[in-house]
Amino acid sequence: MALILAVDDESSGLYFRKLILEHAGHTVLSSTGVEEALSLFHANPVDLVVTDHLLGRQTGNDMAQEMKRTKPGVPIILLSGTSTIPESLVHADAFLSKTEGPEQLLETVDQLLSSRAHSDNQLPDRAEQTPLRELLAAIVEDSEDAILSKTLDGTILTWNKAAERMYGYRAEEVIGKNVIMLAPDRPDEIREILQRLREGKKIQHFETNRRTKEGQTIFVSLTISPVREANNGEIIAASTIARDITQTKMAEDALRNSERLAVAGRMAATIAHEINNPLETVTNVLYLLSRNARLDEAARQHLKIADEELRRIAQITRSTLGLYRERDTTPGPVSLSEMIDNLLMFYQRQVQSLGVKVEKQFDSAGKVIGVSGELRQVIANIMANAIDALGVTGTKLKLHIYESTDWRNLGRRGIRLVVADDGPGMSAQTQANLFHPFYTTKGQKGTGLGLWVSQGIITKHGGSIHVRSRTDSRHGTCFSIFLPTNN
Ligand SMILES: Nc1ncnc2c1ncn2[C@@H]1O[C@H](COP(=O)(O)OP(=O)(O)OP(=O)(O)O)[C@@H](O)[C@H]1O
Ligand SMILES: [Mg+2]
Repeated sequence: MALILAVDDESSGLYFRKLILEHAGHTVLSSTGVEEALSLFHANPVDLVVTDHLLGRQTGNDMAQEMKRTKPGVPIILLSGTSTIPESLVHADAFLSKTEGPEQLLETVDQLLSSRAHSDNQLPDRAEQTPLRELLAAIVEDSEDAILSKTLDGTILTWNKAAERMYGYRAEEVIGKNVIMLAPDRPDEIREILQRLREGKKIQHFETNRRTKEGQTIFVSLTISPVREANNGEIIAASTIARDITQTKMAEDALRNSERLAVAGRMAATIAHEINNPLETVTNVLYLLSRNARLDEAARQHLKIADEELRRIAQITRSTLGLYRERDTTPGPVSLSEMIDNLLMFYQRQVQSLGVKVEKQFDSAGKVIGVSGELRQVIANIMANAIDALGVTGTKLKLHIYESTDWRNLGRRGIRLVVADDGPGMSAQTQANLFHPFYTTKGQKGTGLGLWVSQGIITKHGGSIHVRSRTDSRHGTCFSIFLPTNN
């Protein structure tokens, strides 16, 4: 009978599945985590894997991909609590809903094991007929990871297909050149790596960045090993296996940023809340004082100034609290066009008194899924900023909504909202600091939190915000916000 690896993050489900498989005569290794499952998989001659689809933060499909990379012949069954097959199940051989019962599981196990035995019998002939050297070359060439080799002074000797895809250079463009071309701004790092290789040391999972042919920076994880001459063990070259981890890195950074934002937000809200209590007392005391008939004119003036300053503190705490209040955080359908119409009513008085002409162009209703209170805050701030700018100079406020794609990833569809004004524009310094907390050019009138918070909210919604601004004769500012509608 077979050696089966069973994986599930829920230990009770795993326990009973193991019993059923053992009852059918199989030997079962079990694991509740992806890491452990992978090491069991690599260390044992596993014949088949049965795994749950959702494993904590990872998916069974991701784990299956990794397993298929090293032992593609081992069949994998994915189990799921839902009965519809998730689209992404490309690495499994079978999908079973957990509701289908043990008989179905055992039947699928038997089917897969027998078709494996069948294909195993055929496999060795073809592989055995191929000379080992050619087989190894084919493995390297078709690897999903970039594999290159180089001399000990860094001259590139070989370059596989994945390296072409990752770095953008074809083999003939790099062979014979120095690896420094992949890291032009990191000569010391390359020198150190080569030195370690000469000393016979291996470098494992070293995370760094590299430059592609198009000049893009990508994050990579490198494993670099010295290659020794078969006869005398002398180090003659080095091999590098590089994996592109840009996507993972970006996802990690985004998560870290949004966590940091949430912590900072909660802290700010707590402080604002704590300030409000003494603030109310002081405001009340000042009010009573100002009612005192015995005060002379100078004292009255001082009280007036104190009162104005207190109002300013109150305004800051109010907006800070408002910005972070954790109310209605459940996402739902939001119409950006309706939201803008609403906000325009709110700003109507200011718009009219400044003589601003509002141009609306709604080519789409702008329906997205999001937290309405948060998105409203973003749009309100961007509109308020534009109106503030138009208070200095300019007369036009343009609001455009249309269906669009993400500039960074053209496969992602969504809604773009553009808010443009022909106000004074922003200096280079302002543009550089725009999204930093407490950066404001409005002195007493601004808190400088608007765009910082907006950016956090947009990132949380999977979107992005860009700005273009100029201060020359064609002055003005244009904010463009993208919110995805598919993921
Ligand atoms: N449309 C715009 N035109 C010119 N400058 C702008 C525009 N939008 C933003 N800015 C500049 O960016 C700065 C930061 O904006 P942000 O919304 O973060 O803070 P704020 O408006 O100053 O204060 P708050 O929104 O917290 O009340 C502003 O002080 C202003 O200098
Ligand atoms: Mg603002």
